[in-house]
Amino acid sequence: MLTQIKKINPVYFDDKTESVLSELEKTQKEFWNLDRECAHFLNMLIKINKSKNVLEIGTSNGYSGLWILDALKDTNGVLTTIEFWEKRQSIARKNFENLMPNSKVIPKIGSAVVILEDIYDEIESGKKEKFDFIFIDANKKEYVKYFELVDKMLIKGGLILADNILSHYEKVEDYVEILFNHKNYQSQILDFGAGMMLSKKI
Ligand SMILES: C[S@@+](CC[C@H](N)C(=O)[O-])C[C@H]1O[C@@H](n2cnc3c(N)ncnc32)[C@H](O)[C@@H]1O
Repeated sequence: MLTQIKKINPVYFDDKTESVLSELEKTQKEFWNLDRECAHFLNMLIKINKSKNVLEIGTSNGYSGLWILDALKDTNGVLTTIEFWEKRQSIARKNFENLMPNSKVIPKIGSAVVILEDIYDEIESGKKEKFDFIFIDANKKEYVKYFELVDKMLIKGGLILADNILSHYEKVEDYVEILFNHKNYQSQILDFGAGMMLSKKI
């Protein structure tokens, strides 16, 4: 009975966007996309945080990116998104151009750790601003390494959302331990979808 209650708006986007998102959801497993409930939450969180500068680690075909870009319309913000699989990144770019033609996206192709080190150098040399929202959704075994790098690139008060915390707990356990014991972060695991961990830098 309770499972039949809708938890998010059944209709939110215009017809074209809705139809592309629904089409992408048919291949959700193949492209390892967020489910709609998590994507909707990600979108709301970015709006609530009034984020302007978002980093995504794990672009895939751009499904979550579309939800991020929709949220960034409010602030005219920028999405930097990393993916090492060129084919996926090119599908993502097409999806962004098709549905969010006026959005500001900086797609980065390559290994996340290497790209993050490059981005940090850009920030250090004053060529790029720090991020106010970071979405981690790539190689689960590298979450700790991602955190060590992105911690330096996140403004105070910024948020980190990490996916697959409950679905891949054995791989991300160290990440959870570090965040739960970190004096500069307030964190909570959200028990829906694949289980996401939300952390606020204090
Ligand atoms: C879970 S999927 C991302 C799904 C996407 N955020 C969404 O919800 O639409 C993870 C993506 O990260 C990419 N990836 C995995 N390890 C990576 C790494 N070390 N560097 C860059 N990309 C990586 C994979 O190719 C895959 O497309």
